[in-house]
Amino acid sequence: MSEESKVELSGDSLSLADLVHIVESSDIASIKKTVSEIVNVINDPESSAKQLKDIIELDPPLSAKLLRLANSAFYGYTKRITSIQEAIVCIGFDAVKDLALSQKVSQLFDKYDKIRDYSRDLLWKHSVAVALFCKLLYRREYRELGENSYVAGLLHDLGLIVEDQFIPILFSYILEKSEARGTSLYQSEKEVLGFDHTEIGGAILAGWDLPDELVTAIASHHDPLRVGGDFAKLALSLHVSNYAVQKAGIGYSDMPRIDLPLFDQCRRQLNELAGSKINETALGLILEEVEKSISVMESTGWFSHGR
Ligand SMILES: [Fe+2]
Ligand SMILES: [Fe+2]
Repeated sequence: MSEESKVELSGDSLSLADLVHIVESSDIASIKKTVSEIVNVINDPESSAKQLKDIIELDPPLSAKLLRLANSAFYGYTKRITSIQEAIVCIGFDAVKDLALSQKVSQLFDKYDKIRDYSRDLLWKHSVAVALFCKLLYRREYRELGENSYVAGLLHDLGLIVEDQFIPILFSYILEKSEARGTSLYQSEKEVLGFDHTEIGGAILAGWDLPDELVTAIASHHDPLRVGGDFAKLALSLHVSNYAVQKAGIGYSDMPRIDLPLFDQCRRQLNELAGSKINETALGLILEEVEKSISVMESTGWFSHGR
């Protein structure tokens, strides 16, 4: 990101539409095509391993990153994997889908940018943990695939990246305000900008040809009770995952003061909706698994700058 392309506007003159417009022609939008293609493969029950392989192979840097990680200790595979086809056979279609998504989205977090307590490295670790948590929630508690759960976690705080990249001075002021008062970032964002990072993320992703369920969940991850109908489950699950990961202190936290009553309400609503029994024990077991994965990923360099 060059200095000239940074756009610093005053909080008064900046509209959500301005910001979305700026992002559309930026490096952030460069991941749009591949991400939407992979998400569409995941959501299509008829999709094949060949379709996924073709999407990945059309993106050589993604293929290279994916193969490097497929050969890392994380997957513990002893034979050297030399092609995407082989990766799909060895580590599985499901694992390659997640790996392809996470590696494509990780491009957004490549820049080392520390503003007060915030950095993209910490936000990336947080996002991966939320993705893993949300996916496990679907698989273990609802016995469902939760096709959009993993990508929802990866992309849910996209609005924060947009703020740090295009309005760093305002973003620093927002961080300072939240730190001083111990309030969540979205509250300070509302005061300073008139909108928050959930709205920024939702407005950008609405133009990315992604499932509505996914965009709605991201756009309401701090206020999921307003989502009704078929989309409520993912919105509530994303909020619960975000809460659990922040409470455990994994990566960056945009909610210094955790809203326990809201979390409890979301958990109860989810149990009614999904017929699940999400309680402290269930969440603790998922968290244990997430922490284990995060620590192996950490030791294999997933979160270091220039990954
Ligand atoms: Fe957030
Ligand atoms: Fe978050």
